[in-house]
Amino acid sequence: MSIGTASPPAFSDEEVQRLRADFPILQTQVNGHPLVYLDSGATSQRPLAVIDAERAFTTTLNSAAHRGAHTLAAEATLAFEDARTALAEFIGADEDEVVWTSNATEAINLVAYAFSNASIGRGGAESARLRLGPGDEIVTTEMEHHANLIPWQELAARTGATLRVIPLDDDGALRMDAAAELIGPRTRLVAFTHVSNVLGVVNPVEQLIAAAHAVGALVLLDACQSAPHVALDVHALDVDFAVLSGHKMLGPTGIGALYGRRELLEIMPPFLTGGSMITTVTTTEAEYLPPPQRFEAGTQRVSQAVALAEAVRYLQGVGMPRIAAHEAELGARLVDGLSALDGVRVLGAGIDLPRVGLASFDVAGIHSHDVGQFLDDAGIAVRVGHHCAQPLHRRLGVTASTRASTYLYNTADEVDAVIDGVARCIDFFRRA
Ligand SMILES: Cc1ncc(COP(=O)(O)O)c(C=O)c1O
Repeated sequence: MSIGTASPPAFSDEEVQRLRADFPILQTQVNGHPLVYLDSGATSQRPLAVIDAERAFTTTLNSAAHRGAHTLAAEATLAFEDARTALAEFIGADEDEVVWTSNATEAINLVAYAFSNASIGRGGAESARLRLGPGDEIVTTEMEHHANLIPWQELAARTGATLRVIPLDDDGALRMDAAAELIGPRTRLVAFTHVSNVLGVVNPVEQLIAAAHAVGALVLLDACQSAPHVALDVHALDVDFAVLSGHKMLGPTGIGALYGRRELLEIMPPFLTGGSMITTVTTTEAEYLPPPQRFEAGTQRVSQAVALAEAVRYLQGVGMPRIAAHEAELGARLVDGLSALDGVRVLGAGIDLPRVGLASFDVAGIHSHDVGQFLDDAGIAVRVGHHCAQPLHRRLGVTASTRASTYLYNTADEVDAVIDGVARCIDFFRRA
């Protein structure tokens, strides 16, 4: 996958303006200034088509999917399943390989609990492949979002397996030499992020996937920061699991998804249990539906799934390669502009890998909360803190950073506005 060298052209100014017109919130004024929204890495904005799709479902079809035989419930079920098909197509999966979850965090926990439930014998002989115990190893990396770290710490604690962590070099890049040593015959699962939510770099995932599969380990790809920004094909990448969050890809909050290879989903014991995931129940035991329903206990998020499907149609309409090209330009502009400021260190700036349009930076002597506050006064929304990646920040010698993250609706002028805002912030605090 090529991002930094993407061949399709980035958007012209007119094209970005046309896209922006689809996003009502971008007309908002914040603190007396037009909103400059540079926090899409945390949550993205929604185009009218997505807002309307959720409203249309709610006003004409609202009812519980997979429950009830009345007309509305049947149509809601169809809409829910059509949404699954749309997302599956978007990520290069088959529709029965997509499980709806409330977000990526839940999707990762679903996989972790499948392993730990298998380890205590749930799922019977079929799920033996997922059993972990002392001597087995789970491998993750030092750059992970906590959502792709803590579930593995907990899984290791529950099963007696060992968690091993691929370290970073001084720039923040994954130490691929260490990865080659850590991934070995004891490794059962390798879980890593496709795109770092702090550094904005696209990891050499093909290499990690090949290394994991060479020793018979399974791979979980955290696609939270890649699925929204670059074309993703889980079958072509040959990952075993992938997770994403709808709210980071123009969809609503409350919906995410797990991709799981069909033969793996089939042997996985469920995570959450209850209604809608069973065939037969007695007072002492239950039989479960096949996947994906086995993993979708309780009343589902139907309007959110419908809206997320509209979001992926919108992204497909614009074209993922062009979105990637646009963001690669914005990302390079951000990194160059911020790096040129006295006292600013862009985390991971020295890493020679393709990037998305996201940069986190430290300003010498000024806490990120102060930087964020200063920018907010000018209507510029960025994220401050550790971005749920404390080990990465610790490795790079900082406790926090300021993150500007772009999406298809951001302009070069907005990138310049944040660079200018940081320059003024430095000036202000130095004079204070
Ligand atoms: C790389 C990465 N992984 C996982 C997550 C967790 O996503 P959610 O909080 O939507 O579950 C995030 C969210 O910021 C992320 O950036």
